Amino acid sequence: MTGVPQDGSPGAPQSGPAFQIGRIQVHGDLILAPMDGYSDQPYRSICRELGSAVSYTEFVNALDILQGHPYVHEKLKYLPGERPVIFQLFDSDPDRLLEVALRLQELEPDGIDINLGCSARNVSGRGAGAGLLKTPHKIALIFQKLVSALSLPVTAKIRLGWDEKSRNYLQVARLLEENGAAALAVHGRTKAQGYGGQADWEAIAAVRQAVSIPVIANGDVRTTADIARIKAQTGCAAVMIGRAAIGNPWIFSRLDRQDAPPELVRATMERHLERMLAFYGSAHGLVWFRKHAERYLRPYALPVALRQQLLTADRLEDFWALVERSLK
Ligand SMILES: Cc1cc2nc3c(=O)[nH]c(=O)nc-3n(C[C@H](O)[C@H](O)[C@H](O)COP(=O)(O)O)c2cc1C
Repeated sequence: MTGVPQDGSPGAPQSGPAFQIGRIQVHGDLILAPMDGYSDQPYRSICRELGSAVSYTEFVNALDILQGHPYVHEKLKYLPGERPVIFQLFDSDPDRLLEVALRLQELEPDGIDINLGCSARNVSGRGAGAGLLKTPHKIALIFQKLVSALSLPVTAKIRLGWDEKSRNYLQVARLLEENGAAALAVHGRTKAQGYGGQADWEAIAAVRQAVSIPVIANGDVRTTADIARIKAQTGCAAVMIGRAAIGNPWIFSRLDRQDAPPELVRATMERHLERMLAFYGSAHGLVWFRKHAERYLRPYALPVALRQQLLTADRLEDFWALVERSLK
């Protein structure tokens, strides 16, 4: 299942201050956030080449792996140039997570991440993702089991707590460290906040102070100025960027969206679509690229009719003709 190079890409430029996740050397301080439906192999590899220092997969349901669900194979394919690669898993059951992590270890990722932050009802409602923040003893058990059984670093991605009344992020962070987590990404919101309000960077700074494992700051980083601000405010080893990286992979080269010229936008879209076609096949590649295209072209404020045509074009020639018109 391990990825085979499809394009001979050399991998990301090695730059920036290195830190370590367990024994993994990380060269760079910006990281594409795991995003279900977006951070697939084509997009991850592009971001990695542009400077994202680690490839986190989209989250994968441990149950789906045990049941041999076909979609998980796609989510876990990676290119050698993407290393370090971290597979992200979610589940509520420590033994199931252990069994699945042991299986996935055979695919030779560089690390396994446990999702302790997903707020979606079908995940957190069954005690997985952010649902685990309500049962810290289970988090401890999961990390005890995985850390002692795996030969890979095990990391976590958390939110600040379940809701405003239970912001237990310091307890959870300390517990993760005590039980062997190699690094910790913190999205500065509670589960109840969803994506509303502002991410609390002060809380992330407090986590950074409370533990000595690397902390990765996450939430509401949209520009290069935000990167500098969150680093200064939290002192974190690295910054994870999610929504603002969709249609904007240049953020990992510290180029703001408004400074990306149309020729660069076109060239990156071409590279991205080529990889989507190679990865998903010609029948699905373009269809699944549409949501990315919409984000790449959003700053051009397309007329409704043109946008509609773009998002329904199913022949490559038509699609590119519409992109050309959009970029003018
Ligand atoms: C569409 C979408 C899918 C996401 N999927 C995941 C996921 O699979 N695993 C995860 O840990 N977080 C997931 N997240 C949360 C992001 O990783 C990140 O924590 C959140 O978007 C906050 O960062 P941002 O403000 O930079 O977007 C997802 C977020 C979005 C918007």
